[in-house]
Amino acid sequence: MAKNKPVGKVITVGVTGASGAIYARAILRLLDADKRVARVALVASEIGLRLIATELGIVAADPKKLPALLTGTSAKKIEYLPNKDVGASIASGSAPVDAMVVIPCSAGTLAAISVGIADDLLARAADVCLKERRPLVLCLRETPLNRIHIENMLRVTDAGAIVMPAMPAFYYGPKTIEDAVEQFVCRVLAQIGLPQETQYRWEGGGRSRKWKRET
Ligand SMILES: Cc1cc2nc3c(=O)[nH]c(=O)nc-3n(C[C@H](O)[C@H](O)[C@H](O)COP(=O)(O)O)c2cc1C
Repeated sequence: MAKNKPVGKVITVGVTGASGAIYARAILRLLDADKRVARVALVASEIGLRLIATELGIVAADPKKLPALLTGTSAKKIEYLPNKDVGASIASGSAPVDAMVVIPCSAGTLAAISVGIADDLLARAADVCLKERRPLVLCLRETPLNRIHIENMLRVTDAGAIVMPAMPAFYYGPKTIEDAVEQFVCRVLAQIGLPQETQYRWEGGGRSRKWKRET
């Protein structure tokens, strides 16, 4: 990651070992293509990498190549950071990060963040977002929920995080899983100030349409 704040947003994406690696791929593709985004730091837990392999069939012999394998582009603005490296840039509040999204977010990582355990880079980066009062979106993927999950969601919400469970909507008539996933990811990006042109918007009266950003 560049030391100085680049022109454009800097976003951290955390990928944990919850089902839904397809969400991580979708958000990275949109961030990669988004001209408002200068840099993306990608950090994945060990089981997160396992889920990327199981659900997407993507295994990077060289982890630095993971962003390109996920996006299908050169992914030049996305940097993969090893989860064990708690000394990486995003582990410090002085790093110029605008927002972080954990997608998908496991109940385990939710628990770690909710009590301030920061013993890997992903959890530390989330902890830093909270202490710096930066947007942190946690896309929890678990069902059903027990009391511990619900209490942890309340705790992180009180600390400033946005809990956005990985729950696609169906009111606009998605035709494919990819469509449902992309629309959910568009809603996540809107939460961090990156509304997408491909997002559907409800107009009332049973209609929805894709939103056009004002230029
Ligand atoms: C195939 C597979 C699917 C899993 N799906 C979920 C899930 O949807 N939600 C969840 O909270 N944990 C899920 N887990 C369990 C987590 O991976 C496990 O609790 C792990 O320790 C989480 O660590 P992490 O948050 O550091 O990735 C799954 C594990 C495996 C192997």
